[in-house]
Amino acid sequence: MTLPARSPADLGALAQSLLDDLALATDEPGRVTRTYLSPAHARSIDLVGDWMRARGLATRLDAVATLHGRREADGPAGRSVLIGSHIDTVVDAGKLDGCFGVVAGILAVEEIARRGLALPFAVEILAFGDEEGVRFPSPLSSSSAATGTYRREWLAARDRDGVTLDEALRGFGCDPDAIAAAAIAPEGVIGYLEVHIEQGPRLEHWGLPLGVVTSIAGQTRMGMTIEGMAGHAGTVPMDLRRDAFTGLAEIALTVERIGRQGTGDLVATIGKVAVRPGAGNTVPGRVEASLDVRASADAPRLVALDRIRHEAERIAARRGLKIAFERHVDVPTCPMDERLQEAFSRAVASLGGDLRRLPSGAGHDAMAMARRFPSAMLFVRSKAGISHNPLEWSDPLDLGLAVEALVRTLLDLAATEGRV
Ligand code: GLV
Ligand code: MN
Ligand code: MN
Repeated sequence: MTLPARSPADLGALAQSLLDDLALATDEPGRVTRTYLSPAHARSIDLVGDWMRARGLATRLDAVATLHGRREADGPAGRSVLIGSHIDTVVDAGKLDGCFGVVAGILAVEEIARRGLALPFAVEILAFGDEEGVRFPSPLSSSSAATGTYRREWLAARDRDGVTLDEALRGFGCDPDAIAAAAIAPEGVIGYLEVHIEQGPRLEHWGLPLGVVTSIAGQTRMGMTIEGMAGHAGTVPMDLRRDAFTGLAEIALTVERIGRQGTGDLVATIGKVAVRPGAGNTVPGRVEASLDVRASADAPRLVALDRIRHEAERIAARRGLKIAFERHVDVPTCPMDERLQEAFSRAVASLGGDLRRLPSGAGHDAMAMARRFPSAMLFVRSKAGISHNPLEWSDPLDLGLAVEALVRTLLDLAATEGRV
């Protein structure tokens, strides 16, 4: 049975209602926080799995808790198009980051069926669980598993309660020994498509609802540990202190200065700090901090990292502190596939209006997927460019236009694939 096509306004309203429901799966009532392998992550898998099954997709959970929903090809079994994004969130997140890409994929597949359209390839929707790297320092680990580039040393990392990633996976019912089998064979894949909110201000500035991503900024994420000497806040004189926190404070200002001086959209952030032992009347003896450095090209990022390291070691030595760095993630700048950019671009152009392309400053599962599959991204305008913040918002009409563009991109690929 063929049903009338839903309008972008209707698709957007539907997307928004699904996103509102998904936001209720949270580890912190009152705000959206859904970290990898948490109870809220389990609830979100149940919910998204129900949405997939209700639309005829066959679901399965892989060894790293990525939820797959598959629609087989119409006609002989052929290759597949992967569509994905993530359903984990940062702490106190908005409702859209990651989740919209999964919702967009589900609604696009539903729309294809409603309109009675046929695809010569399977479509597999992937809801990744560990893009943000909030609970464990391994962002993109689930998409890395899909590409066979999972690093087994990640399994030994501990969350703030001392639980290792290996233990958390087993507790979730996953089998870390089967991670290699979660890799998807590249021969069978036409490409990977990810729809995501822009999380920046450019599309809004241009007055455009959608844009096609050219490349994703490279990123390095590290841990820094600074060791000083804990002591009594009332008795240790100022000039005899080895205060790990004030050492970090000086390093943080240096990181900011180096970030400001850099070229190529360089940004450098310390977003997470733990002060030990963490008592108001004790001089901090140890500080653990994160460091996140990104740029639109690799050279400015690598130069900045060298400078930060050198300056931090100099500051630590002057203050009688020890500093150690641990590199968790190092992903180079990632160009998106030209052919898939063109397919997205034709779909956006067919909706009318201007077409612009833009780079992504945020990291995405597409960076990991691009290691093995042709990959491309479509961005949706974000209000005021705000993200990683509960104020994150996109106009539902823009969301609906993105779903429609994804439908048209699949049809565009179907036309090409039909000729192969
Ligand atoms: C993900 O949101 C990232 O860019 O870190
Ligand atoms: Mn994010
Ligand atoms: Mn995201």
